[in-house]
Amino acid sequence: MERAGPIVNSFASVIRPRSRIIDIGAGKGLLAQAMSERFGACVTMVDVARYNQTNLPLTVCDSRALAFASDSFDYAVLSFVLHHCNQPDAILREALRVAPQVIVVENDVRGMIRGAVTRLVDSYPALRFGTPPCYIAQSHADWLKLLAEFPVEIQMLKRFSLEYGFFQNFTVLLTKRD
Ligand SMILES: C[S@@+](CC[C@H](N)C(=O)[O-])C[C@H]1O[C@@H](n2cnc3c(N)ncnc32)[C@H](O)[C@@H]1O
Repeated sequence: MERAGPIVNSFASVIRPRSRIIDIGAGKGLLAQAMSERFGACVTMVDVARYNQTNLPLTVCDSRALAFASDSFDYAVLSFVLHHCNQPDAILREALRVAPQVIVVENDVRGMIRGAVTRLVDSYPALRFGTPPCYIAQSHADWLKLLAEFPVEIQMLKRFSLEYGFFQNFTVLLTKRD
C-alpha cells in the first residue's frame, strides 16, 4: 500500500460519506485523491508550493490566511503539515475557522538525535519542491500541549508508522467546542 493508504486509514472511521474536505498542505495530492475516491468526498486542495501530481485542482496560498468563509467545510485535514510551519498555531486557527472538525496527522519524535535526523530527512522536499523545511520535531505529548491551547475536544484516533518504522505517527481529531 502506498503512503496515502495508511494515513487515510488512520482517520477513515470518523469521515462521513460525501463530505466537504479541505486538504491543507496537500503536497502531491495523493491523500486528497484517496479521500475523494474512498469517501466520495469533495476535496479542496491548498498548498504554499505547487507539486500536485493529480488531476484535482490545487490553490496555491499560504494557509495562515485562507480565502474561504468560516465553516465552509466539514473537515480540514493537516497531514504532516504543522511541523513544516514556523507558526503552527496560525495554521491551526485558520483550519478551525473554516471547518468544525480538524484532523491532524503528525510525527511523534523523541530524543535529540532522532529530532535532528528527522529535521534533516524531512527537509529534503524543501530542496526538491520548494516547500518550507521541517521546523518542528517533537513528541506526541508536546503536540498535545499545543493542540490543547485551542478551544477543542481532542480525540486520539490512531498510532501508526511509515517509512519502514523510521517515523512514528499519530492522528487526532479536533472538534471545535461551541
Ligand atoms: C510533508 S508535506 C505533506 C503533504 C501531504 N499533506 C501528505 O501528508 O502527504 C507538508 C506540506 O505542507 C505545505 N505547507 C507548509 N506550510 C504551509 C503553509 N503555510 N500553507 C500551505 N501549505 C503549507 C508544504 O508546502 C508541503 O507540501
